[in-house]
Amino acid sequence: MSESTSIDVLLKERRVFDPSEEFVEQTNVKRWMNKRGIKSYDELLEKAKDLKWFWGEVSKDVVEWYKPYQKVFEWNEPYAKWFIGAKYNIVHDALDKHVKTYRKNKVAYIFEGEPGDVRKLTYRDLYVEVNKLANGLKSIGIKKGDRVGIYLPMIPELPISMLACAKIGAIHTVVFSGFSVGGLQKRISDSEAKALITCDGFYRRGKIVPLKSQVDECLGACHSVEHVIIYRRSMEEIQWKEERDHWWHALTEGQPTECPTEKLDANDTLYILYTSGTTGEPKGVISAHGGYAVGTALTLKWVFDMKDEDIWWCAADIGWVTGHSYIVYAPLILGATSVIYEGAPDYPNPNRWWKIVEKYGVNILYTSPTAIRMHMRYGEKWANKHDLSSLRLLGSVGETINPEAWMWYYKHIGKERCQIMDTWWQTETGSFVISPLPITPLKPGSPTRPLPGFTAEVYDEGGKPIKEGGGDLYLLPSWPAMLGGLYKAPERYVKTYWSKLPHMYLTGDKARRDEDGYFWIQGRADDILKVAGHRIGNYEIESALVSHKKVAEAVVIGKPHEIKGESIVAFVVLKEGEKPDDTLRKELREHVGREMGKLARPDEVWFVKDVPKTRSGKIMRRVVKARVLGAPLGDISTLRNPEAVDEIAFAT
Ligand code: WT7
Repeated sequence: MSESTSIDVLLKERRVFDPSEEFVEQTNVKRWMNKRGIKSYDELLEKAKDLKWFWGEVSKDVVEWYKPYQKVFEWNEPYAKWFIGAKYNIVHDALDKHVKTYRKNKVAYIFEGEPGDVRKLTYRDLYVEVNKLANGLKSIGIKKGDRVGIYLPMIPELPISMLACAKIGAIHTVVFSGFSVGGLQKRISDSEAKALITCDGFYRRGKIVPLKSQVDECLGACHSVEHVIIYRRSMEEIQWKEERDHWWHALTEGQPTECPTEKLDANDTLYILYTSGTTGEPKGVISAHGGYAVGTALTLKWVFDMKDEDIWWCAADIGWVTGHSYIVYAPLILGATSVIYEGAPDYPNPNRWWKIVEKYGVNILYTSPTAIRMHMRYGEKWANKHDLSSLRLLGSVGETINPEAWMWYYKHIGKERCQIMDTWWQTETGSFVISPLPITPLKPGSPTRPLPGFTAEVYDEGGKPIKEGGGDLYLLPSWPAMLGGLYKAPERYVKTYWSKLPHMYLTGDKARRDEDGYFWIQGRADDILKVAGHRIGNYEIESALVSHKKVAEAVVIGKPHEIKGESIVAFVVLKEGEKPDDTLRKELREHVGREMGKLARPDEVWFVKDVPKTRSGKIMRRVVKARVLGAPLGDISTLRNPEAVDEIAFAT
């Protein structure tokens, strides 16, 4: 029987993966329930509906306030405040509290560079590095409330930089190192960062990516940046700008190894993290210290059942929210040991990840369906070369995991011993929202149900609640790590999340609910692509294309892709007199790569004379997509130029 037929059978049988009783009894969540006499998961969900009680109670297990809060939360639509009145700084829980205990000698990060270099940093090491950098930042005038851009690869200096900012009350805004000049520029300009922390270059697939030269190119247009701090990673030669540029090692040398942690308000901003929107520039999602700390730490402790002796590997990039929450803040708050790996998953061979799991005895692995499908394509022979028996739990995030990939992961990586935590959440939610706990019976492809303390609902277009069936996925306010708005864009915040149905947060996803109340995520309802689990706005790629001197108009859609989830297909209208050919096709691809980063390069570029538009001039992506996929076109009565639709079909 082939792999795929067995999955068909499995799904038809509606097989549910139930954890063993013995396993369940030992989990953090079950112990918490037992202590309080809570008998079943349903009872826990019911009890947790009292949000004030629930979040107040669990916060005691994960954070220490400088001054206790007076109120668990306050909802003042569309803004929430959590742990009101508390004095707090997340760095206290991430570092300061640990160096006073046995954990000071515990390894916080095991770092492996792509070339194979290894560094292990204890909590005490991390504490010292953070303090030195924090003092260095102060010495160049960075203070509470200032924004600091961080453009670094997956090296320990990335969390060190974030924590140093947080320590002194500065707001960090991390830009994914895979973004190129245009992407960096937009984010740095919007946040008006005063300083930018970067490195000379880093390793990716055996080559050096020259980060500092991209910074130099970007800063021509970003006038807010007064200081650039450069960590030496690749020993690249770099250009130097006196007054503005500082070597990390020079700035931190001789700095005191102690630096007082700023006692902030629990609702003060911790970071701004940009994410793609359907129109305009990326939006700056704001996160605060207190609620975020409680929300991320509790969810990690319960969903991935983090124990003190565990080795945790969240194989995401810190440039995205997954890394912010589950490589940096939550694991440090829990005093965990995490793996950070710099490079590509298949470099120099497809067994690189499995080698890492074996070498460090990783107990919990958290990754994306795209990565799983990539490993699946290379075949299990690569994983079979290694002892993966240390693994206890597995996780998935970023997009829906197809049952085939789920089964492969379950069988060949988890050896049918490890439950898979499929966690649904977003940059805006800050923490997991819809996710199983290790005690939850699983159905491959479903993130199961909202966690205790969260409420999700599905509504149809008319605003009717759907108990079984599909519609728009909404969340009910509020939860502790919920975004505190969009940076400098309060109207956009309301319009994006709070305008479709009253008093409910619109996620932008479509979802279905089955007879057991399990959620099945059907993808984005809006014009956002999900490429390799990363969010990219169709609009952003279209703007990048149109910024090319030969392009008049462009429309971009996503097409299902076996590994990446979606591939990017662009239809381009050239300016009068420009010749469509393969050279230009390549040039446009590279142009988008330069503007936004490799991730956003279209997989296909087609030249057309016109693109379908409404009478008011709006490009109808929905129709283009339907045409490409051969799906019904739906209502096209508002279309001004129906002939353009046929041209799309003809082009592809
Ligand atoms: C979007 C958020 C949250 C960390 C990574 C992405 C999709 C996320 C799942 C999942 C199906 C998922 C949704 C969501 N998504 N997790 N387990 N199953 N879809 O963060 O870039 O803010 O993207 O990712 O569409 O809205 P993000």
